[in-house]
Amino acid sequence: MLQHALDRGHEVVAVCREKSIEKLCSFQGRITIVPGATNDRQVIEKAVSGCDGVLTVLVPWGVHNYSSGTAQAVLDYASHDARLVFSCGWHITRDGQDVYSRQFIWLLDLAGWLARLVHIVDIDDQVEACRRIFDSEARWTVVRGSDLEEGDSQGLPVWSQHVGDPVLKSNMTRRVDFALFMIDALENQDLVHQAPAIVGCQTPSALSQTVA
Ligand SMILES: NC(=O)c1ccc[n+]([C@@H]2O[C@H](COP(=O)([O-])OP(=O)(O)OC[C@H]3O[C@@H](n4cnc5c(N)ncnc54)[C@H](OP(=O)(O)O)[C@@H]3O)[C@@H](O)[C@H]2O)c1
Repeated sequence: MLQHALDRGHEVVAVCREKSIEKLCSFQGRITIVPGATNDRQVIEKAVSGCDGVLTVLVPWGVHNYSSGTAQAVLDYASHDARLVFSCGWHITRDGQDVYSRQFIWLLDLAGWLARLVHIVDIDDQVEACRRIFDSEARWTVVRGSDLEEGDSQGLPVWSQHVGDPVLKSNMTRRVDFALFMIDALENQDLVHQAPAIVGCQTPSALSQTVA
């Protein structure tokens, strides 16, 4: 996401936990790093000050309201006019019109059960984070990612309003392209107050819908 942002000429301020800063060493001198947790309100206040856009990864990790705390801090401290783009998964639904396969629901239930058992993940907190975002008057977009895979970019993912739409059937996006969609959304006014569900543009379901 950082590289995409720099490629587009953005000046970048990044928030990263102290223990992860090393992974950003190749960007040293090209970005400003604010060390800390994203649900630390003081960290977010400092980082988003003066920013025209804020890209937020809603992390499902942790059981201390990490996602909702992060989202709330961004909503509270970002400039009123800033474009806010958040990431989450397909399990988030804005209007209840998403249609999930039985396998998806089964896996989600299993993940939720395991998460509660081992106390390292709180999927419900991402739901709460998105509820707050959807209720807000900020200029938000919530990008709902399919399953992710590594690999070179295939281009900007395609999107649809609802999980279950045929174009999304392949349920796979390159991680680098999820990031590309987030960056692109900053300047796409059509995505304000939308929760696009995305899929890789070269996946069979995306290609079949393009050709049809
Ligand atoms: N993985 C998938 O298959 C998938 C599918 C659909 C949607 N998504 C969405 O894509 C986004 C990225 O998901 P991901 O699974 O790929 O995440 P990830 O890259 O593994 O982690 C993203 C960030 O989470 C932070 N993080 C990791 N562990 C943490 C912890 N224990 N406590 C606090 N922060 C922690 C890290 O921040 P630092 O930089 O500070 O280390 C990291 O940069 C999320 O919004 C997710 O909902 C993922």
